[in-house]
Amino acid sequence: MKVTLSTDALPKVRADLLALGVRTGGLGSDKALKAFDRSLGGALSAAAKLEDFSGKSGETLKVSLAKGGAKNILLVGLGEGTFAEKDARAFAVRAAGAAAKYSVLAIALPSDEDAILRAAAEGALTGQYRYTRYLTGERRPKHRLETARLIVSRKDKGAAAAVHAGTVLAESVMLVRDLVNAPPNDLTPVALANEAKKACDAHGITYVEWNKAGLAELGADLFLAVNRGSAEEPRMVHMSYVPETLIKTKKIVFVGKGLTFDSGGLCIKPAGSMIDMKCDMAGAATTIGIILAAARLKLPIEVHGLFGATENMTGSAAYRPGDVFKSLDGKTVEIINTDAEGRLVLADVLSYAATKIKPDYLIDHATLTGACMVALGPWTAGLFANDDTLAAAYAKAAAEQGESYWRLPLEEDLREMLKSDIADMKHMGDRYGGSITAALFLREFIGKTKWMHLDIAGPAFGERPHGVFPKGGTGFGVATGVRFLETLASAG
Ligand code: BES
Ligand code: MN
Ligand code: ZN
Repeated sequence: MKVTLSTDALPKVRADLLALGVRTGGLGSDKALKAFDRSLGGALSAAAKLEDFSGKSGETLKVSLAKGGAKNILLVGLGEGTFAEKDARAFAVRAAGAAAKYSVLAIALPSDEDAILRAAAEGALTGQYRYTRYLTGERRPKHRLETARLIVSRKDKGAAAAVHAGTVLAESVMLVRDLVNAPPNDLTPVALANEAKKACDAHGITYVEWNKAGLAELGADLFLAVNRGSAEEPRMVHMSYVPETLIKTKKIVFVGKGLTFDSGGLCIKPAGSMIDMKCDMAGAATTIGIILAAARLKLPIEVHGLFGATENMTGSAAYRPGDVFKSLDGKTVEIINTDAEGRLVLADVLSYAATKIKPDYLIDHATLTGACMVALGPWTAGLFANDDTLAAAYAKAAAEQGESYWRLPLEEDLREMLKSDIADMKHMGDRYGGSITAALFLREFIGKTKWMHLDIAGPAFGERPHGVFPKGGTGFGVATGVRFLETLASAG
């Protein structure tokens, strides 16, 4: 689907569905809408009156028209208060969702500032997302929305750039959704690495990978311990985007957890908890999405993405509770529960990133703990950071993008839970504080690097649609990550 701009007056707009944002107070409170309604002989205000539509947030009303350029009108209530980016995004998601069976959608927003247009472009694209790869015959959708036209007062450079940025961002988000939704028999660790390579090759991003032998040479024995029970080869991937026009800015590394399936290993999960565990590579997918968007937007900032991809399975060579393995940076770790596997993979990838790339900021995304969902609910990511400036900048980017993060403490008191009798440390603590002890374990591997850990176990994958996010893979985290990079890049 394509997002375009049009300066047509509303009566001239040709579309299968024209979505109109209506503030509380109704059609009468907006000059353009009032004039449009008049040109339709008051058809919209009459329908609104009949259906009690007043523009409250969340209200929608569809009106089919016999004459005029637009065949159907969708009135979408926008409520009151300022019309912000997140409102534009949500409005466009709504409109695109309602236009699934049409070809041309037009969207008229109450404001056409660049930031609003960008969010609307993003929403128009992500709002029509469906994962259809495995649908055949009758179940295969015969129809796709082809165009979303944003109705604006100006078609200048800024507006075009805003639509481009929104499009790039949305395409990254949808790639992440595709990867997360892909079934784990097809999206193996090698397949995930190949997807990353494909994206890198298409956009001038340097791609390097390690296979099992390569990881053994690095001494990534914690990572390899998790892989032992799996018949699939693991991969570590390093993607680097170094812009041509590099002004002196910070060097950022993103790291992702790439468990293409997490059965729990020998400490096997009950079936009900295992069913969605194809989503356990969402951190890796998010990392790919962010790097890809940074490169396509040609951000003047150096960004690296690394992920560790493996399955956690129960094969006869599987690692066991009680085993001890050495991390890439030489610490011995006693395994307690083989279902706490993500932190082992991340530990080795993080210490590789910290020592070999020496970033200014190191940021990891991981579907790491169910405990984080217990603490924050299913739609909010846990944010841990050892640097307040980094945490604050990220929180600001998240608010602008309408994604929900909540900072949790790296509570020093809990560190003692990781003490082991026979090794340097255990990889987990007690049940209480489970997402904090996971973060404290990761912190052991980043040295003095400024670091942030984002536990996306909840928001990466939806049991049902929520807000602008669909059921299944959500692509959560990409938008905030890219926004954060843009802010850093423009700060110089
Ligand atoms: N991948 C899971 C965490 C998870 C849970 C992600 C639900 C998405 C939805 C992780 O590897 C895991 O199994 N964590 C355990 C840790 C425990 C054994 C210390 C958990 O949260 O139960
Ligand atoms: Mn697990
Ligand atoms: Zn896991």
